[in-house]
Amino acid sequence: MGIPPLRLIAAALGLALLPAAQSAGPALQGTWQGEQSFGRGANARTLVSTYVFKVEGDQFTGLVVNTRNRSEIVDGTLAGDHLAFGTRNPFLPSSTPQRFTAVLAGDGLTVTAVPRANPAGRGSGRGPAPPLVLHRVSDDTEYHLPPDLAHPPLQPFRPLPPNGLALTPPMGWNSWNKFHAAVDDAGVRAMADAMVSSGLRDAGYRYINIDDTWEGTRDAQGNIQSNSKFPDMKALGDYIHAKGLKFGIYSSPGPKTCAGYEGSYRHEEQDARTWASWGVDYLKYDWCSASLVYGPDEMKQAYEKMALALRSTGRPIVLSLCEYGWLDVGSWGAEAGGNLWRTTGDISDRYASMASIGFNQMGREAVAGPGHWNDPDMLEIGNGGMSDDEYRTHMSLWSLLAAPLLAGNDLSKMAPDIRDILANPEVIAVDQDKLGRQGTRLSQQGDLEIWKKPLAGGRAAVGLFNRGDQPASLAVTWSDLGLGPRPRVRDLWAHHDLARAASYTARIPAHGVVLLGVR
Ligand code: GLA
Repeated sequence: MGIPPLRLIAAALGLALLPAAQSAGPALQGTWQGEQSFGRGANARTLVSTYVFKVEGDQFTGLVVNTRNRSEIVDGTLAGDHLAFGTRNPFLPSSTPQRFTAVLAGDGLTVTAVPRANPAGRGSGRGPAPPLVLHRVSDDTEYHLPPDLAHPPLQPFRPLPPNGLALTPPMGWNSWNKFHAAVDDAGVRAMADAMVSSGLRDAGYRYINIDDTWEGTRDAQGNIQSNSKFPDMKALGDYIHAKGLKFGIYSSPGPKTCAGYEGSYRHEEQDARTWASWGVDYLKYDWCSASLVYGPDEMKQAYEKMALALRSTGRPIVLSLCEYGWLDVGSWGAEAGGNLWRTTGDISDRYASMASIGFNQMGREAVAGPGHWNDPDMLEIGNGGMSDDEYRTHMSLWSLLAAPLLAGNDLSKMAPDIRDILANPEVIAVDQDKLGRQGTRLSQQGDLEIWKKPLAGGRAAVGLFNRGDQPASLAVTWSDLGLGPRPRVRDLWAHHDLARAASYTARIPAHGVVLLGVR
């Protein structure tokens, strides 16, 4: 008996293997498009996707761009008219690709997502996404922006000198975590009032920052206008300034913000001038839809473009980069003109979210310092989803990390315990220490972690954290932490000095912290 032909083996394996002469490569190579509808009624939306395939033998690469994001195609393989491939965020190349299979039939290509393995055995509750049917539109193997979204090349990147702002981590309030789209002029004024009456302004909180959803349409000259929730931005800025506070705003380098409002794409200089005329002192610049119009090689230039636009207004404006920590932003954020940059995705008001962000900031400390800070996202303190012990952990950890302290709660309805967590002067002093060093973890034993932040004048702050859900004791010997031998130690939450000794045993509540100042 002879060796079975390859086609028989392939058929036995269930593969539709075509002979080389009939490879589907030429049929696949090119640009394809398809539409998918999701949701019903007012929530209905249509996602238009463009796929570009570049084939080499039985392998292919390419790009997927849809109304919401851009992905690169990885590990594409062709077997007859069957395709298998992954897609991955090109701004986060270490992420796990989403796998797809697809079947080619003439000018149609049906793409099906492979459900992600879920070790916990829980489904998303949404069921599998329906297959997407693509139709071939051209032979083009390069992606081109639709003409209405095209842009001239960005200026080559050149490192910017510091703007002299944010010499300590910015402190203030931001509307997003509590109010999302329910932010308006009256609400922002109420926050400015409460910032003063609660004593938080005098504790150091200065910025009143409006996040997404303030944006309206552009006028005939292309000037950005606020929407009906904000009748007069200049008057609002004046109100905030009259209280001894500063005024912050939000936009995106993309055509749309994350909530789908007007972004600053191709209007950067004009928007910077508008904001300066309103008295804006702080801009959070959120990547969002910029993935549709810029590739990874253009991100720093897109941020620098806004930094230059802000600088040319002559008004000192703090620039906050929000791109979720992609493309190692800490290595270029300051040179692109950023005073701070987000290091993660969005925080939520749950211990698990806060802890997984806060306790995972190690390794970024070298890039933080006066004028340029890592930003593990805004505070959730007072939003109701965590206990006071957990909120003290949040405040302590962010202060040890020299993180921006942007309160995200309703300041006008703040309970005294929450006010006391946000306003604790001894903890704020750790965050705002002039040396500007980001703290690091010294040790981790099970649920217990010791963090240390060097402070000016040879002092240090030490955080003893218990991530477990039962109270625990933790003994520290000062000399083991590079301190001592019998330093002066103060408990910064209890507001008392400890007895002088070579060591200390702390009793730490579940999910709690003991924060100490050591000199
Ligand atoms: C993104 C940001 C958030 C917030 C929203 C607004 O998700 O990371 O902090 O600004 O957009 O749409």
